[in-house]
Amino acid sequence: MQFTSDARSFYERIGGEAPLRLLVLRFYHHMHALPETQGIRAMHQANLASAQDKLFMFLSGWMGGPSLYIEKFGHPRLRMRHMPFSIGESERDQWMRCMSHALEDSFDDKTLRDELYEALSGVADFMRNKS
Ligand code: HEM
Repeated sequence: MQFTSDARSFYERIGGEAPLRLLVLRFYHHMHALPETQGIRAMHQANLASAQDKLFMFLSGWMGGPSLYIEKFGHPRLRMRHMPFSIGESERDQWMRCMSHALEDSFDDKTLRDELYEALSGVADFMRNKS
Protein backbone atom coordinates (compact mmCIF):
# COMPACT_ATOMS: atom_id res chain seq x y z
CA MET A 1 0.00 0.00 0.00
CA GLN A 2 1.26 3.43 -0.85
CA PHE A 3 1.15 6.36 1.55
CA THR A 4 0.16 9.36 -0.50
CA SER A 5 -1.25 12.87 -0.07
CA ASP A 6 -4.52 11.90 -1.77
CA ALA A 7 -6.96 9.13 -0.84
CA ARG A 8 -7.80 8.45 -4.50
CA SER A 9 -5.94 5.78 -6.44
CA PHE A 10 -3.07 6.74 -8.72
CA TYR A 11 -5.22 5.52 -11.60
CA GLU A 12 -7.92 8.03 -10.76
CA ARG A 13 -5.45 10.82 -10.04
CA ILE A 14 -3.71 10.52 -13.41
CA GLY A 15 -7.06 10.48 -15.24
CA GLY A 16 -7.43 6.81 -16.13
CA GLU A 17 -6.63 4.74 -19.19
CA ALA A 18 -5.68 7.29 -21.86
CA PRO A 19 -3.10 9.16 -19.73
CA LEU A 20 -1.65 5.83 -18.58
CA ARG A 21 -1.26 4.66 -22.20
CA LEU A 22 0.55 7.91 -22.99
CA LEU A 23 2.81 7.58 -19.95
CA VAL A 24 3.89 4.10 -21.06
CA LEU A 25 4.37 5.21 -24.67
CA ARG A 26 6.62 8.04 -23.51
CA PHE A 27 8.48 5.73 -21.13
CA TYR A 28 9.53 3.41 -23.98
CA HIS A 29 10.16 6.33 -26.30
CA HIS A 30 12.74 7.62 -23.81
CA MET A 31 14.21 4.17 -23.29
CA HIS A 32 14.72 3.93 -27.05
CA ALA A 33 16.08 7.45 -27.48
CA LEU A 34 18.24 8.29 -24.46
CA PRO A 35 21.94 7.45 -24.91
CA GLU A 36 22.28 6.61 -21.20
CA THR A 37 19.52 3.96 -21.25
CA GLN A 38 20.79 1.91 -24.18
CA GLY A 39 21.97 -0.73 -21.68
CA ILE A 40 18.39 -1.65 -20.79
CA ARG A 41 17.06 -0.90 -24.30
CA ALA A 42 19.31 -3.69 -25.57
CA MET A 43 17.69 -6.18 -23.15
CA HIS A 44 14.34 -5.63 -24.87
CA GLN A 45 13.12 -6.96 -28.18
CA ALA A 46 13.62 -4.78 -31.25
CA ASN A 47 9.88 -4.21 -31.34
CA LEU A 48 8.72 -2.64 -28.07
CA ALA A 49 4.99 -3.09 -28.72
CA SER A 50 4.50 -6.14 -26.53
CA ALA A 51 6.56 -4.74 -23.63
CA GLN A 52 4.52 -1.55 -23.92
CA ASP A 53 1.24 -3.39 -23.83
CA LYS A 54 2.27 -5.47 -20.83
CA LEU A 55 3.57 -2.53 -18.82
CA PHE A 56 0.33 -0.67 -19.54
CA MET A 57 -1.75 -3.64 -18.35
CA PHE A 58 0.40 -4.16 -15.27
CA LEU A 59 0.40 -0.51 -14.22
CA SER A 60 -3.38 -0.30 -14.70
CA GLY A 61 -3.87 -2.76 -11.84
CA TRP A 62 -0.88 -1.54 -9.82
CA MET A 63 -2.32 1.98 -9.85
CA GLY A 64 -5.68 0.79 -8.62
CA GLY A 65 -7.47 0.60 -11.96
CA PRO A 66 -8.65 -2.52 -13.85
CA SER A 67 -6.43 -5.57 -13.19
CA LEU A 68 -5.78 -6.13 -16.88
CA TYR A 69 -2.47 -7.96 -16.55
CA ILE A 70 -3.76 -10.43 -13.94
CA GLU A 71 -6.92 -11.09 -15.98
CA LYS A 72 -4.83 -11.98 -19.01
CA PHE A 73 -1.66 -13.56 -17.61
CA GLY A 74 -2.41 -14.44 -13.98
CA HIS A 75 -0.21 -13.45 -11.06
CA PRO A 76 2.51 -11.08 -12.34
CA ARG A 77 5.42 -12.74 -10.45
CA LEU A 78 7.28 -9.71 -11.70
CA ARG A 79 10.58 -10.36 -9.98
CA MET A 80 10.68 -13.92 -11.30
CA ARG A 81 9.86 -12.71 -14.82
CA HIS A 82 12.85 -10.35 -14.69
CA MET A 83 15.32 -13.07 -13.65
CA PRO A 84 16.49 -13.68 -17.25
CA PHE A 85 17.81 -10.10 -17.25
CA SER A 86 20.77 -8.95 -15.25
CA ILE A 87 19.42 -6.05 -13.17
CA GLY A 88 21.64 -4.10 -10.77
CA GLU A 89 21.69 -0.51 -9.58
CA SER A 90 22.62 0.85 -13.00
CA GLU A 91 19.75 -0.93 -14.78
CA ARG A 92 17.32 0.11 -12.04
CA ASP A 93 18.46 3.72 -12.38
CA GLN A 94 18.18 3.61 -16.17
CA TRP A 95 14.60 2.35 -15.85
CA MET A 96 13.75 5.13 -13.40
CA ARG A 97 15.43 7.69 -15.66
CA CYS A 98 12.98 6.79 -18.47
CA MET A 99 10.10 6.91 -16.00
CA SER A 100 11.19 10.25 -14.60
CA HIS A 101 11.16 11.81 -18.10
CA ALA A 102 7.82 10.19 -18.93
CA LEU A 103 6.27 11.49 -15.69
CA GLU A 104 7.64 14.93 -16.40
CA ASP A 105 6.14 14.89 -19.92
CA SER A 106 2.80 13.62 -18.69
CA PHE A 107 1.68 15.31 -15.48
CA ASP A 108 1.73 18.93 -14.36
CA ASP A 109 1.02 18.05 -10.73
CA LYS A 110 4.45 17.77 -9.06
CA THR A 111 3.10 16.06 -5.94
CA LEU A 112 1.53 13.37 -8.12
CA ARG A 113 4.76 12.96 -10.10
CA ASP A 114 6.86 12.72 -6.94
CA GLU A 115 4.56 10.19 -5.30
CA LEU A 116 4.45 8.01 -8.41
CA TYR A 117 8.23 8.25 -8.77
CA GLU A 118 8.71 7.23 -5.15
CA ALA A 119 6.32 4.28 -5.38
CA LEU A 120 7.77 3.02 -8.68
CA SER A 121 11.31 3.34 -7.31
CA GLY A 122 10.37 0.73 -4.74
CA VAL A 123 9.18 -1.68 -7.44
CA ALA A 124 12.26 -1.03 -9.60
CA ASP A 125 14.58 -1.62 -6.64
CA PHE A 126 12.77 -4.89 -5.87
CA MET A 127 13.61 -6.05 -9.42
CA ARG A 128 17.37 -6.02 -8.73
CA ASN A 129 18.88 -9.48 -8.99
CA LYS A 130 22.61 -8.66 -8.92
CA SER A 131 24.57 -6.33 -6.62
C1 HEM B 1 14.54 -2.24 -12.80
C2 HEM B 1 14.83 -2.28 -14.10
C3 HEM B 1 14.01 -3.05 -15.11
C4 HEM B 1 14.52 -3.63 -16.23
C5 HEM B 1 15.97 -3.58 -16.69
C6 HEM B 1 13.42 -4.29 -16.91
C7 HEM B 1 13.54 -5.00 -18.09
C8 HEM B 1 12.53 -5.73 -18.67
C9 HEM B 1 12.68 -6.52 -19.87
C10 HEM B 1 13.95 -6.66 -20.67
C11 HEM B 1 11.47 -7.10 -20.13
C12 HEM B 1 11.13 -8.01 -21.32
C13 HEM B 1 10.48 -7.14 -22.37
C14 HEM B 1 10.36 -7.79 -23.74
O1 HEM B 1 9.53 -8.72 -23.88
O2 HEM B 1 11.07 -7.35 -24.65
C15 HEM B 1 10.56 -6.67 -19.09
C16 HEM B 1 9.25 -7.05 -18.99
C17 HEM B 1 8.36 -6.49 -18.12
N1 HEM B 1 8.62 -5.54 -17.17
FE1 HEM B 1 10.42 -4.82 -16.69
N2 HEM B 1 12.27 -4.09 -16.20
C18 HEM B 1 12.59 -3.34 -15.09
C19 HEM B 1 11.70 -2.89 -14.13
C20 HEM B 1 10.33 -3.04 -14.20
C21 HEM B 1 9.39 -2.42 -13.30
C22 HEM B 1 9.77 -1.50 -12.14
C23 HEM B 1 8.15 -2.80 -13.71
C24 HEM B 1 6.81 -2.46 -13.14
C25 HEM B 1 6.55 -1.34 -12.50
C26 HEM B 1 8.31 -3.68 -14.86
C27 HEM B 1 7.30 -4.28 -15.54
C28 HEM B 1 7.45 -5.21 -16.54
C29 HEM B 1 6.37 -6.01 -17.11
C30 HEM B 1 4.90 -5.98 -16.68
C31 HEM B 1 6.94 -6.82 -18.08
C32 HEM B 1 6.24 -7.89 -18.92
C33 HEM B 1 6.40 -9.23 -18.18
C34 HEM B 1 5.86 -10.39 -18.98
O3 HEM B 1 4.65 -10.64 -18.90
O4 HEM B 1 6.62 -11.03 -19.68
N3 HEM B 1 9.66 -3.79 -15.13
N4 HEM B 1 11.23 -5.84 -18.23
